[in-house]
Amino acid sequence: MAKKILVTGGTGYIGSHTVVELQQSGCEVLIIDNLSNSNAEVIEGVKRITGIRPVFEKFDLTDMDSLKAFFNKHEGIDGIIHFAASKAVGESVQKPLLYYRNNIVSLLNLLELMPVHGVKGIVFSSSCTVYGEPDSNPIDENAPIKLATSPYGNTKQINEEIIQDFIHSGANIKSIILRYFNPIGAHSSAEIGELPLGVPQNLVPYVTQTGMGIRKQLSVFGDDYNTPDGSCIRDYINVVDLAKAHVIAIKRMLGGKSKQNVEIFNLGTGNGVSVLELVRVFEKVSGKPLNHKIVGRREGDIEKIWANPDRANSVLGWKAQETLEDTVASAWKWQQRLREKGIM
Ligand code: WQD
Repeated sequence: MAKKILVTGGTGYIGSHTVVELQQSGCEVLIIDNLSNSNAEVIEGVKRITGIRPVFEKFDLTDMDSLKAFFNKHEGIDGIIHFAASKAVGESVQKPLLYYRNNIVSLLNLLELMPVHGVKGIVFSSSCTVYGEPDSNPIDENAPIKLATSPYGNTKQINEEIIQDFIHSGANIKSIILRYFNPIGAHSSAEIGELPLGVPQNLVPYVTQTGMGIRKQLSVFGDDYNTPDGSCIRDYINVVDLAKAHVIAIKRMLGGKSKQNVEIFNLGTGNGVSVLELVRVFEKVSGKPLNHKIVGRREGDIEKIWANPDRANSVLGWKAQETLEDTVASAWKWQQRLREKGIM
C-alpha cells in the first residue's frame, strides 16, 4: 500500500521539492505548515508538476492541541519528514527564544505523538552547520560536532540529541538524520523554487536577484581566506537531488532496512566550490556579467567546508546527479519565472 507521509514545512523550499518527489514515487503526502516563511500558492505549483494536490493544513507545530487534532483526523500516517523550522542564522542571534521555542517544541510535540499514533519513523532535516569550521575537508559523519555559533545551529544540534535520547530510551520509532550542505537551484519545471522574503541572506538567491536587476551588486564576503582564490568554499547541492535523498531515506526506514535505529548521513556532492567560481558559473549560464565587488568578511562565516558523501552513496545508494551549471541554470530559470509572473 502507498505510504502515507507527513511533511512538516512542506510549503517551504526543500519541503516543497520533497513533496513532489514523494508524490512521484507513489507516496500519499500530507503537509503541515504555518506559512511563516512560505506561501500556500506553492501547493498549486506542486499540483501543476504532479497532478496531485497534497492535503494541507495550516497551523503551528508548537500548538499541541492542533497537532493532536491533526493526528486524530488523519489516521495511518507511516512516517514524518520534519523540515518545519526557523532558519535565519542572523535572526536567531537577535531572537534566540523564538528559535528555541519554534525549533525544539515542534520536534518535542511530534516525537511525543508519534508512538501514540503508530508513526514508525522520522527523517530530520539537519545541517552541516553542526560541524562548525572543520579541521579537514571533505568532512564525514564521524567528524566532531563543534560548539554551535548561533542559536539556530544550536537547535539543530539539540534536536539531533533529542531524537537520539528518545530512541535510546526505548521509544518504538526510528530516525534518519540528514545533514545538508548548501542546497541551491529549483525544480526544472520552474513551478517551485526558493522564495526568500526581503533581502536574501544566501548566496544564490542574491546572485540571481542581482542578475535580474532587483539588487544592484553582489557583495563577495572576503577574498583573503586560505583558499585558492581567497573566497569561501562550500558544497552546493541541487535541491531536487536533495529531495530525492529524503524519499530514499524514508522508504529505507519504513521498509525496515535501517541498520541502526538512528542513522546519520551527509548530503552533499563532495565538491568544494568557491564564491567566485559560483559567480563565474552564473555568468556562463546567464550569458552576462554579474555586477559584484569584494567586500570584508561576513562575521561567523566558515572558511571552507565540503562533504564526504561516501556513506550516503554506498548505504543509501544515493548520489548527487546534477551538475553545478545545470543547477545554477535552474535557479536562474526560476528567477526569470518569478519576473514573468510579476512576483519579483
Ligand atoms: C555561502 C557563501 C558567504 C551571500 C548556509 C545556511 C545556514 C547553514 C549553513 C543550514 C559564503 C558567501 C553569501 C552574499 C557572499 N545551513 N556570500 N555574498 O553561509 O554556507 O550558510 O549553510 O542549516 O543556515 O544559510 O550559506 O549562502 O549564506 O553563503 O559572498 O551576499 O557565499 O560568505 O561564503 P552559508 P550562504
